[in-house]
Amino acid sequence: MFVMYNKNYLNEKVKVNTDILDEIDSTNEEAKRRIKDGAKEDFVLVARKQTAGKGRKGRSFYSPKDTGIYLTFTHFTNDSPKNVLKVTVATSVIAAKTIKDTLNIDCGIKWVNDLYLNGKKVSGTLCEYIFKGMYENESNAVIVGIGINLSTEDFPEEISEKAGSLISDNNDNTCYDDIVIGIANGLKSFFENCDLNVYLPLYKKLSIVLGKEVELSDASGVLDSGRVIDFDDNGAIILINKNGENKTYDSGEISLFMM
Ligand code: BTN
Repeated sequence: MFVMYNKNYLNEKVKVNTDILDEIDSTNEEAKRRIKDGAKEDFVLVARKQTAGKGRKGRSFYSPKDTGIYLTFTHFTNDSPKNVLKVTVATSVIAAKTIKDTLNIDCGIKWVNDLYLNGKKVSGTLCEYIFKGMYENESNAVIVGIGINLSTEDFPEEISEKAGSLISDNNDNTCYDDIVIGIANGLKSFFENCDLNVYLPLYKKLSIVLGKEVELSDASGVLDSGRVIDFDDNGAIILINKNGENKTYDSGEISLFMM
């Protein structure tokens, strides 16, 4: 499929300055370079291909040409880095809602922000917080990088069991612009007051872990296990563990005992 984003249409509809790149290492890295070069206003970058797409926890994000959405929204803010969890949770709701609105596909959300379809991960978000001065910048910034596998096939072997795509290549590329518009405008509106309470009801509805037995781990190993009972106002996960205690965690990775 050949995807040519419609620059005029995007710039007319997206309420934030948007740039479309044919090829880049990573839209998050390009956002940092632009911050270093003096960007001061919120901006969106979209790439048709990434040669070094980044995922969470040092992983890479497979980003072949014209098969997915590779988008970074950069927002300048003096909000605390603690709010990054809220941004991450809101982003997954915005992405899921945009996919429903544009493609009529229902994705599930795996805490924190992975979107799943038929047991396979179809989208992920990498949020990075840039402190004032890190890149000679005058204010803090949050970089929200979203990757969506639209019609990606032939995933690298190490992720081929886990990764999936939303659609098969049907030469209908009209959804690309509309997905970018939905996500960019959705994030712009979230950043107006960062009120996660507006997003939490849909987050809970789409959650594939709420009510399930899970294991929570981080780089050092398993942190806890138990049944997920809720998410708090910041998007932290609350589980009732094997000792019957309610525990709240704001980071870590979830494994479901049964998917
Ligand atoms: C994950 O699933 O671990 C997060 C994946 C995030 C991928 C997106 S694609 C656009 C932006 N640029 C990057 O290099 N990464 C994010």
